[in-house]
Amino acid sequence: MDTKWIHLDLEEFKKSPLSEKVQAILSEAAELLKNGELVAFPTETVYGLGANALQDSACQKIYQVKGRPSDNPLIVHVATLQQAQQVVREWPEQAAICAREFWPGPLTMVLPKNDLVPSVVSGGLETVAVRMPSHPAALALLRAADLPVAAPSANISGKPSPTEGKHVWQDLNGKIPLLIDTGKCAIGLESTVLDLTSETPCILRPGGITLEQLQAVLGKVVIDSTAQNGAKEVAVPQAPGMKYRHYAPRGTIIILNADEDKKTQIINGLRQKRSGQKVALICFAETAELLDRKILDQIDFLFELGSLKQPRRAAGKLFESLRLCDEKAINLILVEGMPESGIGLAFMNRLKKAAGANGNCITL
Ligand code: TXA
Ligand code: MG
Repeated sequence: MDTKWIHLDLEEFKKSPLSEKVQAILSEAAELLKNGELVAFPTETVYGLGANALQDSACQKIYQVKGRPSDNPLIVHVATLQQAQQVVREWPEQAAICAREFWPGPLTMVLPKNDLVPSVVSGGLETVAVRMPSHPAALALLRAADLPVAAPSANISGKPSPTEGKHVWQDLNGKIPLLIDTGKCAIGLESTVLDLTSETPCILRPGGITLEQLQAVLGKVVIDSTAQNGAKEVAVPQAPGMKYRHYAPRGTIIILNADEDKKTQIINGLRQKRSGQKVALICFAETAELLDRKILDQIDFLFELGSLKQPRRAAGKLFESLRLCDEKAINLILVEGMPESGIGLAFMNRLKKAAGANGNCITL
């Protein structure tokens, strides 16, 4: 299959009315979705691989194309509250509060599903995950299709999630008919998955909306233990996706502890390098400044995440940096950790999973 890769300026989607060119592409994408085909599109978190959420066979294709285990359910994307309420059986007060505060945006709510949603979407569970993205292109596509759209991240299962159109192209070229590319995703980490089916809201996957933000509007919020401990494989985590190999580059990852001396850890990490191997260092600008020639000479690829004072921006570059390590055939990847508060919780969750997934993570 030929994949059509359409580049469009994000600003084009903010115009009213939309240009004829944009409208034509949206109609084409909407037609594909209605006909049970897949469309990759940008969201504010990562790129999504969309299918008609109400069509069993269309959603099956998502699993085939990604090589995704069938018990890992999909997130249903909606453009309106009405659409969200169409796919769930209950709409509790907490959902209304979260929708008011965080939608459109990087929050996914898990609620009891109704019969409209095929069980392939929910991986056999009685619940469904729903999110209203804020990216103008995602919203425009959802409106044009006038359908709830099931969309996981648009990567091959196990690889780092795509934060740029070219990442989707690298993984899915030839496997899907259309990729809409509007450049880099603003957040760069996936949405927070919040379970609202039990009395106390529970974060199943930390993400773009932080624990602190949720606590501010909901009061008590707990974190699923598997979500906090990214590296461990647990048999039955609440979000089935969290038990699988994820976000992993090919090289071995060493995580530098946020509260220990960085330079010492980098020197110790470099000792793990075997001859002929290539080493990358992914770190904050403040740490990069501490490095002397002797250390820099041993590093094949230095990726700065930016300042630790701007943790959101830094967190959004993690997946990009891990993908670049693969492009540069890096064997050993030293990555600086950050404190596990705010967006740091999501960053460390992805980083630990990426490290643990290789089964050969080294702890210094
Ligand atoms: O930011 C995002 O959420 C992106 C963009 C495209 O919206 N999507 C995304 O989807 O990250 P995916 O499929 O890569 O991750 C969905 C996560 C998985 O961990 C899955 O197990 C969990 O959500 N999930 C989905 N439905 C669930 C349900 N009914 N109960 C519990 N967890 C669920
Ligand atoms: Mg994913």
